[in-house]
Amino acid sequence: MPKVKITDKSGKKITEFEANADDSIGTQAQANGCPIPMPCMAGACGGCIAKIKKGQEYLDPEALGPTHIPIAEDEVLACMCGIKKGTSADSEIEIEIDNL
Ligand code: FES
Repeated sequence: MPKVKITDKSGKKITEFEANADDSIGTQAQANGCPIPMPCMAGACGGCIAKIKKGQEYLDPEALGPTHIPIAEDEVLACMCGIKKGTSADSEIEIEIDNL
């Protein structure tokens, strides 16, 4: 399972977990103690916006469904973003959440 590390905007680690390829990054982050806000859970509000610091190639921004607002190339909506199928277990992903 790829390892996902979540930090706040100061770089402080909030949580780290082994991610599955079925649930969104946001849902898994919440389940692992990160209080990431996800008001709409539909890729429409931007409340869960996250900056990718490492491992962008392992992420599918629309794994859970389409996103409906524009975001930067190095950002994802955590409610819709998932791990790409077939990502190797030793892959590392780091995501910064400013909205904590
Ligand atoms: S919770 Fe609204 S865009 Fe993700």
